[in-house]
Amino acid sequence: AQEVRTTGAPPIGVIGGSGFYEFLDDITEVAVDTPYGPPSDSLAVGHVAGRAVAFLPRHGRRHTLPPHRVNYRANLWALRTFGVRQVLAPGAVGGLQPDLGPGSLVVPDQLVDRTSGREQTYYDGEPGTDGQPHRVVHVPFADPYCPVGRATVLAAARSAGWRPVDGGTMVVIEGPRFSTRAESRWYGRQGWSVVGMTGHPEAVLARELALCYTAMSLVTDLDSGVEVGQGVTQQEVFAVFARTIDRLRLLLGDAVQALPPDQGGCPCGQALAGTEG
Ligand code: ADE
Repeated sequence: AQEVRTTGAPPIGVIGGSGFYEFLDDITEVAVDTPYGPPSDSLAVGHVAGRAVAFLPRHGRRHTLPPHRVNYRANLWALRTFGVRQVLAPGAVGGLQPDLGPGSLVVPDQLVDRTSGREQTYYDGEPGTDGQPHRVVHVPFADPYCPVGRATVLAAARSAGWRPVDGGTMVVIEGPRFSTRAESRWYGRQGWSVVGMTGHPEAVLARELALCYTAMSLVTDLDSGVEVGQGVTQQEVFAVFARTIDRLRLLLGDAVQALPPDQGGCPCGQALAGTEG
C-alpha cells in the first residue's frame, strides 16, 4: 500500500470518540481503503503544535458502529499505510474497583480478552494483504502497550493536574451489552481495574503492524459489580464522557507533543523480528 507522509516526523494516530475532531488544526479528510474493507471513517489529518496527527473516529463520525462491528483490522491498516507508527487510543471504560470512579484516568499495562468472534489477526491467509504470502506469525503480546507511550501519557496527565492511575488490567468484553453483576464482580475479584468493549483486538492488531499503542482509559461509571442500584447505563456513560471530553482532548494534545518523533526506546517496532521464515 502507498505510504503517505505529511511532515518530517511520521504522523501520530489517534483512534477515539468523535468528540476529538476539534483538537486538530486545519483538518484534511483522507479516504483510505484497505484489503480488509473500509475503516470506520476517513482519516481526519491535521496538526497539533506542528506535529501531524491522523485521527480516526472508532465508531464512525456519527457513532453508527457498535464495538463488535468496528473493522479494527481496516482501522489499524489505514493508519499504518498513512505512515503512522505511534497510536494513542482514548476510550470510555467502566471501573471495576470502588476507588476507580467516574472521571478517573487509567493508563493500563495489561489486557484480558473476553471478546469472541472478532477478527484479531492479519496473518490468517486472507488474499490481497499487500501481496504478502500467507505466513504463520505469533507476535509477542506479554506487554500489550507501548512503555514509552504509557510513560509519556502519564507524565502529560500529571503535568495537567490529573491523578492518572499507572497500570492496571483492562478486560475487554464482547458487548454491546454491559456486564451482569456476577460477571462484573468476577472481573473485579481477579484484581482487574477497568472494563471496556473496544480495547481488543485494537491493541494486538497494532502489535502485528509493529506500531506503538497506548490506551488512555477514561472511567465513565462504576460497573455493575461495584455499584449499588441499577448498574451502569448508556446514558451515564455518554454523559460522563461528554463532561470530561474537553480535558481529555487537551491531554491528548499534550501527549501528542510529548511523544518522541519516532519509535524508539521501546520494543514495539521489533514485534515481527524473528517471525520471518
Ligand atoms: N464502557 C464504558 N463503561 C463501560 C462498562 N461499564 N462496561 C463496558 N464498557 C464500558
